[in-house]
Amino acid sequence: MLEYNASQASRRDSHGSDAPYMQIDPRLLLSSIVHDFNNLLTPVVNILEELQHRRDSTRRELGKIDAAIYCAFRAKVLARQLLDFANPRPAMPEPTDMRQLLAQLEQVHASVLSPDIRLTMEVADRLPPAMIDQQLVERALLNLVLNARDAMPAGGDLTIAVDLAFPPSTKTGLPKRMIRLAVSDNGIGMEDRTLKMAGQPNFSTKVNGTGLGLATVRQIVESLGGGLSITSKPRHGTTIDLWLPAMWASSSK
Ligand SMILES: Nc1ncnc2c1ncn2[C@@H]1O[C@H](COP(=O)(O)OP(=O)(O)O)[C@@H](O)[C@H]1O
Ligand SMILES: [Mg+2]
Repeated sequence: MLEYNASQASRRDSHGSDAPYMQIDPRLLLSSIVHDFNNLLTPVVNILEELQHRRDSTRRELGKIDAAIYCAFRAKVLARQLLDFANPRPAMPEPTDMRQLLAQLEQVHASVLSPDIRLTMEVADRLPPAMIDQQLVERALLNLVLNARDAMPAGGDLTIAVDLAFPPSTKTGLPKRMIRLAVSDNGIGMEDRTLKMAGQPNFSTKVNGTGLGLATVRQIVESLGGGLSITSKPRHGTTIDLWLPAMWASSSK
């Protein structure tokens, strides 16, 4: 299945007409709560780490402290993801060499993958620069790499490929070639229902999932004027294409 969302960014404003004091941007409110939540967790983690180093703790106590540190750490990750999602910074696109960007990230990606996942990079020749915000695309790519890792618990192949292609048809305008950044795995794939829901904030099929990864990725590519499409088959694998604007030297192609 293909889904392309370049021009479909939905915007929901809530303006309570009869209660002006309620007109607080819910995203701002959420990010301020999450910010405080994150600040409160910092001393919790610090205290637990101190306890972890006490010499008089029993093995059982240490086990409990480890579990508490793990939970606090996960809560911090969740807070970070909620903050990024609720309060995305504006994109600052600049011409970016995709080959260079992938080379820079190779070690980062390898460090989050287990040795039984083979990572391959394929970059087409003579690509125009992508007009992207490098930091944001790095964040999007890391989310996709982590999802691919989770989809291959027993190992497999992960390919990150970049080329020029026509995005799936959109309602607006003539199709124009864009930079396609494709992340493919041969993992568990997605059932139809998962494929329909993937990318909805808070949708996750994982025990410890936040369901914010793909929603953040979508938000990032749409902020750059691009889109996202997903192809997946249960037990065969998944490809997520990010469609990014290219910088053309002369008139558009
Ligand atoms: N590469 C993939 N292979 C299989 N399923 C995936 C893949 N990427 C995403 N998904 C599905 O989409 C859901 C949402 O992903 P995401 O938004 O990143 O949240 P999370 O990773 O926290 O679950 C996942 O829980 C999973 O069901
Ligand atoms: Mg994820």
